[in-house]
Amino acid sequence: SQSIPSLKDAFTRDFGIGTCLNNAQIEERDPQMTEFIARQFNMATPENVMKSGPIHPKWDTYNFEMADKLVAFGKKHNIKINGHTLVWHSQLPPFIRGIKSSDSIRTFFNEHIKTVAGRYKGKVFSWDVVNEALNEDGTMRKSVFLQHLGDNFVTEAFRLAQEADPKAELYYNDYNNEQPAKRAGCITLIKKIQDAKVRIDGVGIQGHWHVGKVPLKDIEESILQYAALGLKVMFTELDIEVLPRNFQGADVNQRMVNNEQSNPYANGLPDSVQQQLAADYEALFKLLLKHKDKVTRVTFWGVNDGDSWLNNWPIRGRTSYPLLFDRNNQPKPAFYKVLALKNR
Ligand code: G3I
Repeated sequence: SQSIPSLKDAFTRDFGIGTCLNNAQIEERDPQMTEFIARQFNMATPENVMKSGPIHPKWDTYNFEMADKLVAFGKKHNIKINGHTLVWHSQLPPFIRGIKSSDSIRTFFNEHIKTVAGRYKGKVFSWDVVNEALNEDGTMRKSVFLQHLGDNFVTEAFRLAQEADPKAELYYNDYNNEQPAKRAGCITLIKKIQDAKVRIDGVGIQGHWHVGKVPLKDIEESILQYAALGLKVMFTELDIEVLPRNFQGADVNQRMVNNEQSNPYANGLPDSVQQQLAADYEALFKLLLKHKDKVTRVTFWGVNDGDSWLNNWPIRGRTSYPLLFDRNNQPKPAFYKVLALKNR
């Protein structure tokens, strides 16, 4: 892997280059993978281990083992850690479902943020404080937090995170928040936090896009509008899906089934799609470089195609190819297109 150019080095004066890390990577089960990660990335986000379900399995029990390993990994390899995520309606601990009183939800919310952000005080670079609180139309998503705490819970989360770890950068993170209606809702949310004199440092646009349909205009407009609020803009979970959305079928119960047999790219990506993916990544990075004074980090949601959540969504067992490196950590044409933007 020494002969493969390093992305983080290429973009070192522009923005951070990150990846999410799964359990195997955090535990360094494969030394070659570890070496590869350290060479390519200077930022990392835990794919799962800091979410409330895994880290807070019971009302009064936390499981910090993997999150501690992640922080140690970052320190050892000079990789800044973005904590993900303190408040999210998904991947909650199962005990939450049994809670009926708003007071108890409030207690959980306060204690969780205090305990988790407090443990990693000074050890993580930043936190996705709140993740995915918005609907597509820009209204607040119905969640256990909205239901019991009201729409002030977002501001409250930032206040609590700031108290627990005063030096960590604090972000709001969402998907599709480059789309006009959701972006407007996101801006309203951010202004509300700012009006309360609570600190928010940045906004994460996750960046789960589709080949041939990366919304460059909306992305540029979003960079400008979010930056105008004084925020850093990050692309936090970047991948570009290449599989057609409708290849999977349904079983007799109308449940989606693993229909990898009908995946047109089960045995490899055709060259035309490979080139389109490369062109999409090239155009995107060109745009991000144009706004490098506003964009501070680009994080891929997976090191290589084999790691991607898109192999398991919307059904398990698909073969997808959304990232810059193939299943053997070999650079794809998209990697060289992106790199070439720096070598001109
Ligand atoms: O750890 C269990 C394992 O014990 C069990 O045997 C196995 C069987 O299903 O599940 C394992 O947990 C899975 C976990 O990933 C770890 O692999 C969960 O079922 C699965 O739901 C979970 O998926 C994660 C997903 O968030 C959950 O919503 C994906 O890895 C992760 O990439 C994805 O990441 C999210 C971001 O956090 C937020 N933005 C969207 C993004 C993509 O969905």
